[in-house]
Amino acid sequence: MEEIKISNISKYFEKEILSDISLEIEKNKITGILGPSGSGKTTLLRIISGLEIPDKGTIFINNKCVCSEKIFVEPEKRNIGFVFQDLGLWPHMNAEEHLDFVLDAKGITNSEQKEKEITKILKLVNLDKYIKSYPRQLSGGEKQRLAIARVLAQDSKILLLDEPFSNLDPVLKKELKKELVGLQKKMKLTIVYITHNPSEIFDIADKIVILKEGRILQEGKPKEFLKKPKNDFVRKFLS
Ligand SMILES: Nc1ncnc2c1ncn2[C@@H]1O[C@H](COP(=O)(O)OP(=O)(O)OP(=O)(O)O)[C@@H](O)[C@H]1O
Ligand SMILES: [Mg+2]
Repeated sequence: MEEIKISNISKYFEKEILSDISLEIEKNKITGILGPSGSGKTTLLRIISGLEIPDKGTIFINNKCVCSEKIFVEPEKRNIGFVFQDLGLWPHMNAEEHLDFVLDAKGITNSEQKEKEITKILKLVNLDKYIKSYPRQLSGGEKQRLAIARVLAQDSKILLLDEPFSNLDPVLKKELKKELVGLQKKMKLTIVYITHNPSEIFDIADKIVILKEGRILQEGKPKEFLKKPKNDFVRKFLS
């Protein structure tokens, strides 16, 4: 079953950045969107989350239209969590305060309930020892995990991740990826993971979409790609 249905999305800035993108994102699955720098990956994610308005096309989330010529649902009402490349952590808040802020915004004000929730989430991402740490006191991987903890606190089942593990060493990247897959299964998350690095996503994605110059070149299961790359670009890009 699909959770997000994107139909005929186009976006122009000075030129056409996305051309007639149609895509179905399946529920409880990891969809990897791959493409070289400048292919429109971040723009597509920003459109799905409502931070950017497309020039054409529609988006349905759980069968509800959130974007069309007539309809625009604000990002905070789409019930989507996103982690962008720069993470956007708040320098003046420690880990606990990051989650506290989100829970407050969700309307959870009972401090006992909040404390329980914060402990649970920080444990999930293995950050419980760092509850009082500020972003500047955390390593790259710990910061990424805090950013993920913050979206988990939001309690949305859809997670959009824009190069979430960039700038990490390969060992840590592998470890965090494993944790992410564990979380995805445990919490039944729908994840869209974008990156320009095939090795980052091929082993964990249920479906891969390749973008080039704002168009979908190929989509399918990772295995199908290796067996049948559609053209030379895909073959080279994946090798
Ligand atoms: N607000 C904007 N105004 C003008 N051009 C933009 C804007 N946002 C993106 N672009 C252009 O759209 C194109 C696609 O950008 P986008 O950030 O979506 O690429 P990307 O695939 O995420 O690249 P990367 O892998 O480097 O992050 C780029 O050529 C970029 O310069
Ligand atoms: Mg990008």
